[in-house]
Amino acid sequence: MIPPLLFQLMILLSWPINALAESPAIAKPNCPTSCGNGSISIQFPFGIGAGCYLDHQYEVTCISSTPILRSINLTVLDISISSEASTILVNHTVLHSCNLESIRGEIVMNGTVNLESSPFFFSDENRFIGVGCNTFAYLLSNRSIISGCLSFCDKSNISAETMPLRNVTLRNSDCNGIKCCQTRIPSSRDLQQLRVILSTTNYKENTTMTEQNKCKSAFLVDQEWFGNNIDSPGKAQGLKHVPVLLDWGIHESSFDLIERNPSKRYNKTSDCNQIFAHSTSTNTSTNATFTMPVRRCRCNPGYEGNPYLLHGCQGKLLPILI
Ligand SMILES: *[C@@H]1O[C@H](CO)[C@@H](O)[C@H](O)[C@H]1NC(C)=O
Ligand SMILES: *[C@@H]1O[C@H](CO)[C@@H](O)[C@H](O)[C@H]1NC(C)=O
Ligand SMILES: *[C@@H]1O[C@H](CO)[C@@H](O)[C@H](O)[C@H]1NC(C)=O
Ligand SMILES: *[C@@H]1O[C@H](CO)[C@@H](O)[C@H](O)[C@H]1NC(C)=O
Ligand SMILES: *[C@@H]1O[C@H](CO)[C@@H](O)[C@H](O)[C@H]1NC(C)=O
Ligand SMILES: *[C@@H]1O[C@H](CO)[C@@H](O)[C@H](O)[C@H]1NC(C)=O
Ligand SMILES: *[C@@H]1O[C@H](CO)[C@@H](O)[C@H](O)[C@H]1NC(C)=O
Ligand SMILES: *[C@@H]1O[C@H](CO)[C@@H](O)[C@H](O)[C@H]1NC(C)=O
Ligand SMILES: *[C@@H]1O[C@H](CO)[C@@H](O)[C@H](O)[C@H]1NC(C)=O
Ligand SMILES: *[C@@H]1O[C@H](CO)[C@@H](O)[C@H](O)[C@H]1NC(C)=O
Ligand SMILES: *[C@@H]1O[C@H](CO)[C@@H](O)[C@H](O)[C@H]1NC(C)=O
Repeated sequence: MIPPLLFQLMILLSWPINALAESPAIAKPNCPTSCGNGSISIQFPFGIGAGCYLDHQYEVTCISSTPILRSINLTVLDISISSEASTILVNHTVLHSCNLESIRGEIVMNGTVNLESSPFFFSDENRFIGVGCNTFAYLLSNRSIISGCLSFCDKSNISAETMPLRNVTLRNSDCNGIKCCQTRIPSSRDLQQLRVILSTTNYKENTTMTEQNKCKSAFLVDQEWFGNNIDSPGKAQGLKHVPVLLDWGIHESSFDLIERNPSKRYNKTSDCNQIFAHSTSTNTSTNATFTMPVRRCRCNPGYEGNPYLLHGCQGKLLPILI
């Protein structure tokens, strides 16, 4: 016969195993959680198909198992919700040119997608990168330069005059100012419209440079991805698309739609009171600009899951000690 204490212990031990089998919901009931057999999990407020997303900002469409966020027309590479942040990683184009001098040495592009009036923001976990020889790359927001960097040619000739006593060996592996430069972007919480500008420091380079050295590029990129994947200026030079990290939340005006609405006070497992940014928009009929607070949700300590869903936060499984 099993002693009663051991029997109780067995029941306690079997409990977390049953609980594990029921993983917390990530999407609304009866909604797809990925595009076809794609590997990216589509978590609410994002959703595929009518009734599955919170509002049009979060509508995902699937094109051959690839999720596209319709409101900004970019491919989604990851959706992440944690207690620190809500982010998405998107596939973004790189501003690239091999004939700057023939177009007056500077190209300006709305190098990044315009996120104005959306609940999406450029994260300060991105880095701004310039690639190439004699490249001057900078970033504008609201007509002001907010970041920029210069990159020189390989083993620049300047060193012969400025550093005559020592031979300096430059490693080609880093993005440190030789053929590749990088800089932070301001940790403003409200960056929604950025313009990437690519320029050259030497307008006569045309005649002396190899074809490859003429090519320059500039882009914003998720620092973690860049650090893990790009270990030489040569690799940076070949990039045409890169992952960019966006912070997101929910517009105050959409808040009544969310089942976690604090006024409904369902539960104390999550908190959506954190206003982390303000999105900027223009009223098209009056041309007046206005800002809208954006809130972020998170599961309270001891809970985990999707705080944007009703009952999305579940108690964490704690080790059972008697
Ligand atoms: C699933 O993925 C494989 C390869 O990744 C592909 O060949 C197959 O067609 C996909 N099936 C569906 C139903 O999308
Ligand atoms: C979305 O992006 C794709 C490729 O980047 C482009 O071909 C398409 O025209 C864009 N669609 C819209 C509605 O902007
Ligand atoms: C990003 O988009 C480009 C062009 O559509 C595509 O070739 C590339 O594979 C995409 N990258 C990822 C990681 O999906
Ligand atoms: C770039 O952005 C500005 C300001 O938003 C806009 O007026 C202009 O039409 C955009 N240009 C392109 C090529 O998208
Ligand atoms: C842009 O800059 C102008 C002047 O510097 C300022 O008045 C305006 O409020 C700024 N707009 C935004 C959206 O930051
Ligand atoms: C370095 O610069 C000097 C003068 O500008 C020039 O004569 C020399 O050829 C250059 N050397 C190299 C290796 O480019
Ligand atoms: C610097 O390097 C060059 C070529 O690698 C070599 O010829 C020269 O002697 C070196 N100069 C010094 C001061 O070490
Ligand atoms: C650069 O090269 C192009 C074509 O090779 C030529 O048309 C142009 O005049 C050159 N520019 C300069 C500044 O040498
Ligand atoms: C734009 O402004 C007009 C006049 O003030 C107002 O009636 C309308 O609701 C505003 N539109 C938006 C989308 O805020
Ligand atoms: C809004 O701005 C556009 C472009 O600057 C202009 O054409 C339009 O007349 C403006 N509308 C109002 C109501 O001021
Ligand atoms: C709070 O959420 C948990 C987990 O979803 C649920 O079991 C519980 O009934 C909820 N409590 C209330 C008061 O709704």
